Amino acid sequence: MRRKLAAGNWKMNGLAADSAVVRALEVSHAAASVDILICPPATLIASLAATSEIVAIGGQDCHAAEKGAHTGDISAAMLADAGARYVILGHSERREDHGERDEDVAAKARAAMAAGLAPLICCGESLSQREGGETLDVIGAQLAGSIPDDVDGSLVVAYEPIWAIGTGKIPTLEQIGDVHDFIRKTLVDRFGPPGDAMRLLYGGSVKPGNAAEIFAVSNVDGALVGGASLTAEDFSPIIAALEAA
Ligand code: 13P
Repeated sequence: MRRKLAAGNWKMNGLAADSAVVRALEVSHAAASVDILICPPATLIASLAATSEIVAIGGQDCHAAEKGAHTGDISAAMLADAGARYVILGHSERREDHGERDEDVAAKARAAMAAGLAPLICCGESLSQREGGETLDVIGAQLAGSIPDDVDGSLVVAYEPIWAIGTGKIPTLEQIGDVHDFIRKTLVDRFGPPGDAMRLLYGGSVKPGNAAEIFAVSNVDGALVGGASLTAEDFSPIIAALEAA
């Protein structure tokens, strides 16, 4: 059985005062039957990790190199040293804003694993790719290029259709199921049993009102939540829906 995972990606949001969100989650989900993860901005990782027991803390990106002359970047070892346990890699916003290619994501994933972090690798099609019937081809290529060969079952994959991020739109449940079943088969074909242990998250406009129906879809092991993870009022019912799924 895969343990379910409710993950929040705060993106470039969150000041010290927002640590209260994680404290509230720690209290209301003290006996959680699912894993809970918050990926705050790097500035909050150390303080949140030091004060959280239930909620795991993760990074939103790391550099592929172990250390060195890369001004402004952060290494996987630095994230781990600050208390992070996961790192999001290859989010579509990084692929777009920073030109990250699949091979960059794979290199970062290798660095993350070497530092003891679980990589959370994102994939997802654009609207024109969806409308052009290319979704599974695009996802297949992203998985092939972004996931290194020597991974274990702690790797997490998030399916985030780009057109569903921050838009309030989500695919039909059938479309989500088709992609998640395809990802599962792709991972099992390539990795065997570890591919069956990897958790698959859906991301893109997950809200308290649609979480339960999404969590009922086959091969959906949780969610990667953006906007609705910024407040405990919104994220807490999503965690509860995952626990009930
Ligand atoms: P929203 O939940 O705000 O659509 O963001 C999804 C996302 O990009 C999470 O990584």
